[in-house]
Amino acid sequence: MQVDAGELFAQGLPEQEVINRWLREGYERLGVDAVNVTAQDLAFWDGLASQGQKAPSGSVEFVSANLKARNPAWPAPRPYVVRLVPLQQGTFRVGIVGLSQAPRAEGRFYQVEDAEKDAKAILAELEPQADVIVLVTNLRDGEISRLLPLSPKILLVVSNHPTAGELFSDSAGPATVVHAFERGRAVTVVEAAVREGRLEVDSSNLVMLDAAVPDDPELLDFVARAKADISAAQQRIAQEQRPEEMSNSPYVTSFSCASCHPQAFAVWRESKHARAFLALSTTGRLWDSRCVACHSLGFGEPGGFKNAAATPELKDVQCESCHGPGRDHAQTPGSGYGRNAAARCQTCHTEIDNPDFKFEKYWAPIRH
Ligand code: HEC
Ligand code: HEC
Ligand code: HEC
Ligand code: HEC
Repeated sequence: MQVDAGELFAQGLPEQEVINRWLREGYERLGVDAVNVTAQDLAFWDGLASQGQKAPSGSVEFVSANLKARNPAWPAPRPYVVRLVPLQQGTFRVGIVGLSQAPRAEGRFYQVEDAEKDAKAILAELEPQADVIVLVTNLRDGEISRLLPLSPKILLVVSNHPTAGELFSDSAGPATVVHAFERGRAVTVVEAAVREGRLEVDSSNLVMLDAAVPDDPELLDFVARAKADISAAQQRIAQEQRPEEMSNSPYVTSFSCASCHPQAFAVWRESKHARAFLALSTTGRLWDSRCVACHSLGFGEPGGFKNAAATPELKDVQCESCHGPGRDHAQTPGSGYGRNAAARCQTCHTEIDNPDFKFEKYWAPIRH
C-alpha cells in the first residue's frame, strides 16, 4: 500500500493547473492508494470547484477528515478510505484517514476545521469498519501525540513533518510515527506482519530515491512528457505578458548602483550571480517558476521578477537580491541601507540545494 501525507499539489503558480494534472496522473500510474489533502493543496480543489467538475474518480483516493467544502455541491475529499488487504486467510481492512493542519487563510470554496475534534468523530465512525487505522497528516508531532489516544486501532501515522532535515522515525506507544521526506526525495518503507490476528509494525526504513534506485523506463518517459508540457504551458503564460513599466518598481537593478559603487559593481559583474539566469536558459527551465526564484531579483515581492518576458531587467542575482530594494537609497544616498545582506545568502543557498554552504568560503570570491 502506498500513501502520501499531502502538500502534493502546486499552489500559487500561474501554471499550477497543468502541473497538478500531471501530478495526479503520475500518482495514478504509481498506484498510490491514498493522499492526504491539506490546506496547501487547495488550489487543485478550487480549480475543480470553480470549473464545476467532480472530485477525481481514479484509483487514488484523496482523504481529509477536517477539510470541507463550504457548499456540499462542490467536490471534496472523503474523510477516509478503507482498503482491503488480502491475506492467506481472509482479508485485512485498513482504514486511511487524512488530517490537515489549519491554514493561516482559508480558501473561497473550502475550510479547514479543528483536526482533533473532527478526528474524534471520524475515528468513531471508522473503527467498526477497519481492523487497523493509518493516519496521513501534516500535523506537528505535538498535535499527533494528542490524536493517538483517540483510537487503539491507530497502527501507523505518516507525517509530513514540517521541519526539513529532521528525518527520524519514532515509536509513540502502540502506534508507529514515520516522518516523510519533503519534495518526494525519499520513501519510508514500513513492514508489518499479522501475528495472532493482529497487525504489527516490524520495521520502518527511509530509502533515499537517489541514483542507486534505478528509474522505471516507462515513468521516465512519462516524466519527460510532463516536463515538456509544463514547460510549454509556462512559456505560453509568460509570453502573454507584456514588459512591465520598471519605474513603478522599488528595484532599480545593479546598473543603477554602478556609478556610485564602481568597485562593488566590478566584482558583481564578474561573479556567477550576474549570470545566474543563464543556468536556467541552458537547462531549458527559464519559464519555470519553481526555478526562477533564486536565479532572479525580487521574485514574489512587489515589483520584483515575474518572468523573462515581463521583467527582463530583473533576471540574475543582483545587488538588491542581497541588499534589498534600492530605489529610495539610489535617490537619497546615505548610510543605513542594505545592511544585513549576509543574512540573505541562505534564502537561496539553502541546506537542501547547497548543503556545503559556508559564509566565509562563499563570501571570499564576491567580497566587495
Ligand atoms: C532555493 C533557491 C534555488 C532554487 C529554487 C533553484 N536554484 Fe539553481 N542554484 C541555486 C544556488 C544557490 C546555486 C549555486 C549552488 C552552488 O554554488 O553550489 C544554484 C545553481 C544552479 C545551477 C548550476 C549553475 C552552474 O554554474 O553550475 C543550475 C544549472 C541551476 N541552479 C538550475 C536550477 C534549476 C533548473 C532550478 C529549478 C528546477 C533551480 N536551479 C532552482 C539556488 C536555487
Ligand atoms: C550575494 C549578495 C550580494 C550581492 C549580489 C551584492 N552585495 Fe554588496 N554586500 C554583501 C555583503 C554580505 C556585504 C558585507 C556587509 C554585510 O555583511 O552586510 C556587502 C557590502 C556592500 C557594501 C558596503 C561595503 C562597506 O564598506 O561596508 C556596499 C556599498 C555594497 N555591498 C554594494 C553592492 C553593490 C553596488 C552591489 C551590486 C553591484 C552589491 N553590493 C552586490 C552582499 C552582496
Ligand atoms: C547616487 C549615488 C549612489 C547610488 C546610485 C547608490 N548608492 Fe549606495 N551609497 C551611496 C552613499 C553616498 C553611501 C554612504 C556611504 C557611507 O556612508 O560611507 C552608500 C552606502 C551604501 C551601502 C552601505 C550602507 C551602510 O550603511 O553601510 C550599501 C550596501 C549600498 N550603498 C548599496 C547600494 C546599492 C545596492 C545601490 C543600487 C541599488 C546603491 N547603493 C546605489 C551612494 C549611492
Ligand atoms: C537570490 C538568490 C541568491 C542569494 C540571496 C545569494 N545567492 Fe549566491 N548564488 C545564487 C545562484 C542562483 C548561484 C548560481 C549561479 C550560477 O552559477 O549560474 C549562486 C552562486 C554563488 C557563488 C558561486 C558559486 C560557484 O559555484 O562558483 C557564490 C560564491 C555565491 N553564490 C555566494 C553567495 C553569498 C556569499 C551570498 C550572500 C552574501 C549569496 N551568494 C546570496 C543565488 C543567490
